[in-house]
Amino acid sequence: MPDKHASYRSRYTADRLIPGAFDGETITRRRFMTGSAHTAGAIAAGAFTLPALAFAVGPIFKSTPHSWVTVGKVGSFPNNNYVPVIATLTPGIGEAGKTTVYMRAFNPALDTDPYDRGTPYIAISTRCAHLGCPVRWVDAAQRFICPCHGGVYDLLGRRVGGPPVRPLDRFYTRVVGEDVQVGPRFSVNSELRRFSPRDPAEPLDGIGQYLYPSRPTERKL
Ligand code: FES
Repeated sequence: MPDKHASYRSRYTADRLIPGAFDGETITRRRFMTGSAHTAGAIAAGAFTLPALAFAVGPIFKSTPHSWVTVGKVGSFPNNNYVPVIATLTPGIGEAGKTTVYMRAFNPALDTDPYDRGTPYIAISTRCAHLGCPVRWVDAAQRFICPCHGGVYDLLGRRVGGPPVRPLDRFYTRVVGEDVQVGPRFSVNSELRRFSPRDPAEPLDGIGQYLYPSRPTERKL
């Protein structure tokens, strides 16, 4: 017979007088099966939860490649109208990496916003700030017009009608030798204050800039 007082310290189930215990057993079969079922359940749940989570959260941490591309020569853009250029913003993915950028030279009479000082050229993105459809510059109306839901933007890319939540995004510009280059994209609020790039439908006025922070991997402005 096992010693009754020693059973409290023993690691063997038989010593602890557990019904149905086998000699040499250190864990009951019930506990072992319960632990196995929980472990199998946790592995199964993780197998479909973790990939879905990574798929949803992963893009937040994916950095956007930034490169400078030449889009024309100095003097090839007017300062009172836009010229569309095709720029490869994401190399290596073919046509999908190209976008249309509306370019014009800096105009001190138009570009009075302090954030635009020192910018040699104004480069406007065609991605609508509502849901991302490509907008088109309509010279006769002096407006950018979105064909999807009627978004309208003025000469500076500020929203003047329709559902877009902020002005059109812009690109940094620089002059290298005789080349005009466009670089990283940035977003602006209704005062044309610059922010790190945001996705369409993310407002940047008031509390919007805090509700829709930029991706952690984006360059901070
Ligand atoms: S996507 Fe441009 S107005 Fe909706």
